[in-house]
Amino acid sequence: MILVLDFGGQYNQLIARRVRENNVYCEVHTALSFEKIRSLKPEGIILTGGPQSVYEKDSLLPPEKIFSLGVPILGICYGAQAMTKILGGEVKPASVREYGKTEVEIIGASKLFKGVEKKSVAWMSHTDRIFSPPENFSVTAATKNCPVAAMENPAQNFFAVQFHPEVVHTVEGAKIFSNFVDICGCKRDWKMSSFVVDTVENLKKKIGGGKVLCALSGGVDSSVAAALLSKAVGKNLTCVFVDHGLLRKNEAVEVEEVFSKFDLNFIKVDAGERFLKKLRGVVEPERKRKIIGEEFIRVFEEVSKKIGAVDFLVQGTIYPDVIESGLGKSAVIKSHHNVGGLPDFVDFKEIVEPLRLLFKDEVRQAGRELGLPEKIVSRQPFPGPGLAIRIIGEVTAEKIKIVQEADAIFREEISSAGVKNLSQYFAALTNMRSVGVMGDGRTYDCAVALRGVLTDDFMTAEAAKIPWEVLSVVANRIVNEIRGVNRVLYDCTSKPPATIEFE
Ligand code: XMP
Repeated sequence: MILVLDFGGQYNQLIARRVRENNVYCEVHTALSFEKIRSLKPEGIILTGGPQSVYEKDSLLPPEKIFSLGVPILGICYGAQAMTKILGGEVKPASVREYGKTEVEIIGASKLFKGVEKKSVAWMSHTDRIFSPPENFSVTAATKNCPVAAMENPAQNFFAVQFHPEVVHTVEGAKIFSNFVDICGCKRDWKMSSFVVDTVENLKKKIGGGKVLCALSGGVDSSVAAALLSKAVGKNLTCVFVDHGLLRKNEAVEVEEVFSKFDLNFIKVDAGERFLKKLRGVVEPERKRKIIGEEFIRVFEEVSKKIGAVDFLVQGTIYPDVIESGLGKSAVIKSHHNVGGLPDFVDFKEIVEPLRLLFKDEVRQAGRELGLPEKIVSRQPFPGPGLAIRIIGEVTAEKIKIVQEADAIFREEISSAGVKNLSQYFAALTNMRSVGVMGDGRTYDCAVALRGVLTDDFMTAEAAKIPWEVLSVVANRIVNEIRGVNRVLYDCTSKPPATIEFE
């Protein structure tokens, strides 16, 4: 097992995921005592990035004694600086702050960089940097503005990198993790099937004979969560599908069709009016998310009262939902409806989230292990707050209709043109109106935005180059078939700096 000590960086679970890609079991923990760390018996430790400076008064640092455990330790960004400070080197604010893709050059021999190209692109994001390495460390990589971009103490197997090997933009990142796993001497025998077996066992222990309600949206995450629970508790599971009126065209009917065939208790609640009423006049994205999060919970509480004696609520929360909602000292990007959007008081004994530490593609893998149909497992993601966060500004019934129709046209054309490999694509309604001309008359109507992205983990993404011929057919159909729309825009921004959804 490799232990990741989390200091609040945006990409920390990506580190865990890179370790899991090497078939090595990995746990992420925040602020552990030395005794706890020792009792976990890690074969290696990774110290993550984080938003603090090691010189802040209340900065989180790992226990000093981990450096005498005799296991390899890799410090990344803030983790590298924490290692430097503890072992007697010097960290100071850099005169030039580095952010983004940066060329890194390997200098000198390195165990960590075995087989890594001498010059490659890496992702940097730091204000402080290492000025002088601790004793017995040699500098192993540099960038133009960062003379100590990496250092190591090969005798003790301590490694530090200022850049982020966990993000895809660091071209040699996967190799670096693979080398670290080898240095740790891990057996590489962990698989997704082990995750499924262990999780089902843990759920059985936790829930016993209790009754469980599962918030099912028909999306990949909640379907996989439901399948895990159904394996663990069988008929004590009831899945509740809330139609909040913010679903895609025909989605409610399709979801009901698929899940009524499964061997589980399935309840559909029509709550469109209720959500719309709560959202009236609300324009601020975080408010919308919180209102929807709370209303979901209220509906589940009502259903659970009807069923009686339900202790547990299961949600298909996955890691990007958690991290973007702000974890520990990380910044809040957006409150995913099932995490930061939750109300303070929730009338269940416990919320169970078996997928909380996985990424989307790992969830799909788990779904396949569980034998879910490919139609569900490979579905593109659809966010819990639904079209509310694809309508910029106030949500109204008319706007929902527009975005549903535009999205249906986009999906139809993508499918008939056979465009493959898009990770996610959808239409959104901007709050922009502009002047157009139609049938010799002036129009002053809305603009629909189309977005298509390519990504593995939904933490970073690039805009997809959808063929122009397809986009122009979609644009034509949208302005001709939907009243009130006279312009169609394509979103070319990557994440970061944009996000995938608009709100
Ligand atoms: P962003 O917009 O944060 O989206 O780049 C990343 C991925 O998460 C989905 N998403 C959500 N999923 N509840 C969800 O279940 C939410 O509140 C939520 N917000 C965003 C989004 O569709 C994308 O796949």
